[in-house]
Amino acid sequence: MRYPEGFKFGVATSSAQVEGCGLDGGRGPSIWDAFALRPGAVKDGATPGKNACDSYRLFDVDLWNMEDLGVNAYRMSISWGRVLPQGTGQLNQAGVDYYRRCFEKLLSAGIAPNVTLYHWDLPQALEDRGGWVNRDSVRWFQDYADLMFRLYGDIVPTWVTVNEPIATYVGYGLGAFAPGYTNKRWGNQARHNVMTASGAGVEAFRSSGAKGEIGVVIDIWKRVPLTDAPEDLALAMDEDEENWKFYTDRLLGTGYSPYILDKFEKEGTLMDMQDEDFRLTDLPIDFYGMNYYNTVPVSVKKQREAASGGNFAEDRRVSHPEKLSEVLKMIIKMYGLNIPVYITENGFGHAGEETADLATGIIQDDDRIEYLKGALSSVESLLRDGIDIRGYYLWTLMDNFEWGAGNTYKYGLLHTDFDTLRRTWKKSAYWYRDYINSARGK
Ligand code: FCB
Repeated sequence: MRYPEGFKFGVATSSAQVEGCGLDGGRGPSIWDAFALRPGAVKDGATPGKNACDSYRLFDVDLWNMEDLGVNAYRMSISWGRVLPQGTGQLNQAGVDYYRRCFEKLLSAGIAPNVTLYHWDLPQALEDRGGWVNRDSVRWFQDYADLMFRLYGDIVPTWVTVNEPIATYVGYGLGAFAPGYTNKRWGNQARHNVMTASGAGVEAFRSSGAKGEIGVVIDIWKRVPLTDAPEDLALAMDEDEENWKFYTDRLLGTGYSPYILDKFEKEGTLMDMQDEDFRLTDLPIDFYGMNYYNTVPVSVKKQREAASGGNFAEDRRVSHPEKLSEVLKMIIKMYGLNIPVYITENGFGHAGEETADLATGIIQDDDRIEYLKGALSSVESLLRDGIDIRGYYLWTLMDNFEWGAGNTYKYGLLHTDFDTLRRTWKKSAYWYRDYINSARGK
């Protein structure tokens, strides 16, 4: 299918997952640097400093690969601690210069940066002051966002405040992500505060005079009850409420649902809220960014067929890329959404090493290609139905630091050798290049 003129075909990464190079260039440590040092926190003991892709040093290599892929957009994130090592206060000029160089190089290659301010790597210095559980985090984030808009607002066309706010809940409530607490009350406070901070970021954007557009990224892992039994329907409903509606109801709808407020109240985990918090998330945004990977089958009786979403799910056996369109249509209908949409992440992960085929020397990741075909034909059908999708960002350019799974889980179009840092094209990379070309009618 021929895509609309200007449609963004991109790849996505994030700072903690690809920059590597330890604390080079004066980066302040993040909660993920600290968390990864805890025994057992990251599956293979990998750390963001040592076991990411060293893009801080090798950005040009990544850029060449992107040019060869033919993408016209790159979704990346700023490491908060690289520009503000303490989270607030003194700017780190080397970090500031690094991102400006990245953005300028991308733009001169015809690749539009789509820049996320917060993709999970909170400066550890701020965690030491209470992190996302502390309401002051809203102001810390707003000040940081304001600085970034003033530094780069002249050249960055697309901004995202926060990527997948659920990560804060996983970090403070469930313990599977940094900073690794298992306190549901804190988890709820943290996820409430990060949403408020996102709104404060939008407010800063409007007053900074930056050009460009700003949106928020929320991942949707739609639950599908395996049977019609009332307990399965109830479970699916409850998990939808906890895992994505908490965020979308507030951002795209009219506020938290009575169900979730009532549940937290009964559990004694209800967060502190102020009217001001909702004023901030009610500020209009320019687009909604949806991350879509899969749906999640649930049932009370049978063993769960899938992990509860996130990044580390060897047991997610069945992929439903084609459900991307159904899920987006559900969101549009649910909230009467009438702003543009980007698919800000979508991709296919493999547990364990993928090895090259001896005959061709290439990793034959046909299952990834099948998945991508399904997802992109879903995007095509949405466009045919007149839905205003402006872009698609494939997760991810290259195998990287996959959070709690370390280097054991592979999502890349390119294989990364974590000893030599060499990037090698998999079959899916060639496939994506060809798909983009034909979508542009070349
Ligand atoms: C998403 C994250 C991203 C990556 C992919 C696989 O939840 O936003 O950083 O880990 O999953």
